[in-house]
Formats: sequence, structure tokens, C-alpha cells
Amino acid sequence: MLGSGFIGRFYADSIQAHRSKDKIVSVYSRREQSARKFAEDYDVPHWTTEMEAAVNHPDVDMVCIALPNNLHEAAVMACVKAKKAVITTKPLGRNAEEAKRMLEAVEKAGIFNGYLEDLCYTPKFLKTLESVQGGALGRILWAKSRETHPGPHSEWFWDLEQAGGGCILDLGCHCVEISRNYIGKDIKPIEVMCWAETQVKPIPAEDHAIALVKYENGAIGQFEVSWTFRGGLDLRDEVMGTEGTVWVNNFLRTGLEMFTSGKGAHYVAEKAESNTGWLFPVGDELADLGYNHMFTDMFNACDEGREPRETFYDGYVVNAVLDAAYRSAKSRQWEPVKLEIWRGREGVQQESTLTDYDDQYYLIKEEVIHDGRTKVILKDKQSGKVIEKVTA
Ligand SMILES: NC(=O)c1ccc[n+]([C@@H]2O[C@H](COP(=O)([O-])OP(=O)(O)OC[C@H]3O[C@@H](n4cnc5c(N)ncnc54)[C@H](O)[C@@H]3O)[C@@H](O)[C@H]2O)c1
Repeated sequence: MLGSGFIGRFYADSIQAHRSKDKIVSVYSRREQSARKFAEDYDVPHWTTEMEAAVNHPDVDMVCIALPNNLHEAAVMACVKAKKAVITTKPLGRNAEEAKRMLEAVEKAGIFNGYLEDLCYTPKFLKTLESVQGGALGRILWAKSRETHPGPHSEWFWDLEQAGGGCILDLGCHCVEISRNYIGKDIKPIEVMCWAETQVKPIPAEDHAIALVKYENGAIGQFEVSWTFRGGLDLRDEVMGTEGTVWVNNFLRTGLEMFTSGKGAHYVAEKAESNTGWLFPVGDELADLGYNHMFTDMFNACDEGREPRETFYDGYVVNAVLDAAYRSAKSRQWEPVKLEIWRGREGVQQESTLTDYDDQYYLIKEEVIHDGRTKVILKDKQSGKVIEKVTA
């Protein structure tokens, strides 16, 4: 484990949960005190303040990167040098250029690579994706994902050089990959229109942004991200297709509601702003945030010699979409997504979903009206004229 901070601990709690046989065998942290404490807390036999010592440790089969964004590339290159399997937290790079270098390096070295996009492994996400892929929603038209909270928990996030961006990069990376999964990973994201602003915090980066991501098949992705939202961690997705809709609330409303006067108050959930009054706790954060399914997929994939669901390539595509969002926020125009490496389909056209009513008409809409009769709106195939008919 490289890093012993917030996400390193979430990962460790998940990897070594329940009766798991998976084990962290070495931990690197820049400060001896943190490395030692993490090793004690998680019963890790080896700790070090030298990154390469952890990567090269003979008992290490796979390296998990849980370091600030500006250190991902150096850590990945250490794994490439040691030819060790590597999984890294999001975002893969601070931009697509960094991400592409990492992608090319791991593929050239032939090492296993996984992108730790936990929100594409939540139980609700996996269930929704199964329904979407099974056709329950028809052709996907719109996939919106929102992640907003009151701001990150460590100083480096707020430093543009180390973080590489503000809430677009930090939170938008989750949202883009969620929408991409629903729309289809083989469908090319082509352009982005983004509004971004620093509305509240005294920082050079954006603390609030909204963007539209256009896909080649005509579907639209949308992300809403903020570091200035008050009220906890709001993680919501909405998918709309020609045959249905899904609304997912991953965190603030999970069905568990509680009131406390504050007596005996304790930790409620990530980024919860209060532990008194009416609360919306999360039953099992590790499961609800996707960590358990994510590590299971990563380790199984590595054992079975296959790719995991989320790879460095996915991380690279996400970075390319976010780069376009940053360009658009500046130019105030739709900006193209520059994908020097694209492995999906090319030249996909929007599918036709015209429904025949009879030989003469297409069906536009059918509705039962209040007196119980059925009304249909039809379009003449030859003249294009729109008519309505009420049937008994
Ligand atoms: N849901 C998620 O997937 C999720 C959530 C939070 C963070 N993250 C990602 O995890 C990574 C780490 O974030 P975090 O929240 O754990 O941050 P953190 O500040 O809590 O922990 C960072 C770790 O890196 C170490 N570190 C900091 N600066 C360093 C330096 N200059 N040299 C060496 N080590 C240094 C810290 O000591 C600590 O161990 C980031 O890339 C972040 O985007 C992912």
C-alpha cells in the first residue's frame, strides 16, 4: 500500500475485511510515524518511508497506489520498473498526457493494471448497469451523475500543482466514468460544454462545475460537481432511456434515517456535516461505496489473467474528457475530446427508434385520457403531417 491516508485506510478496511485472506504486506508513507501507525492498525509486517522499498518487497504481488494525484505517475513507473501488478486510485493522471504515459508504460511492461473507480462497483450501480445492459431502459439518451460535498479533507487537494485541478478533476472523474458505463464504454465521447466557477473558496481552482458530454451515438452525459455543497456527500445518478428511467441515491438517502439529541454522538458517514438531529447514516460504507466489489474484481481478474472492469485505459479516457471540460470552461465553447488512443467503435450513428402505427402513420405518443379513452398522436409517413385520434 503506497500512502496511509484517507483512501489508503478505506482500501485497507475493505481488503482485509471479514474473513478475507488478502493481506497488505508492506506500507509506504512519507512519515515514519504514519507508516508505523498504519502498520500497527492493519497488522502489516513491513513498513517503510521509501516508496521503492515497498514496491520491490519480495512478498508484494500487487501495488495499490493511494497517494496524492501528482505522485501517481512516479508510483506507477516504480511498479513498471519492478514489473509488479498495479492498481491506482482515481484520477489516473492530473491530465490525459500523464494518464497516457502511465497507460503506455504498464502495457509495454505487460503488467496487470486496474483503475480503482469504486463508484462503478457500488451494489446499486452494478444492479442498474445490469438492467441497462439487458435493455430495460431501451436506448440510453441521458446519463447524469452528481457528486457534491463541502470540500476535501487534506491540504494537497486545495493546491493546484499537486491536485492538478479542483472539483472537476477530483469528483468529475467518478461522474464521467459512471455516465460512460451507462452510455456504453465503446461509444466515443466527442465534445464537452462546461461551466466552472470558484464561487466560495479562496483557491485558484474551480469549486463548482456543471458539464455536458456529448457521445457519438447522440447520447448525452452530464456531471454536476462541487466542493461547496452543504449537507454531506451527495452521490446521485439518473439514467434515462427510450424505455425507462433509473434514479440512484448512493449515500444521503439509503433508507436509514435516525434522530439523536447528540448524546453519544459519533462518526456518521463520510463528509457528514452533523452528528446530531436528523441523520442519514450509511449502513456499510465499504460496500455502499463499492470498495468490496472493486477489490474482488481486481484480485480475481489478476488471478484469472483477465482485465478488470476498470483499467488504466478507462482512466485515460476519463482524463481526456475532463481535459476537454477544462478547455470548455475557459473558451465557453463546445470543446472536442482529444483521444489519441481510442479502442471503441468509430462512426456510430444515432439509432432510429421510429415506431410503426400502421402502413400510413408512425406512432409519436399514446396516452389513456381521464375519461378512459385512448388518444394517439400520429405522423403521416408521406406528408409528415401530425394528427391525433381518440379511440374507445
Ligand atoms: N473514492 C475514491 O476513490 C477516493 C476518495 C478519496 C481520495 N481518493 C484519491 O486517493 C488519493 C489520496 O487521497 P487521500 O484522500 O487518501 O489523501 P490523504 O491526504 O488523506 O492521504 C494521502 C497520503 O499520501 C501521503 N502524502 C501526501 N503528500 C505526500 C508527498 N509529497 N510524498 C509522499 N507522500 C505524500 C500522505 O502522507 C498520506 O499517506 C488521491 O489521488 C485522491 O484523489 C480517492
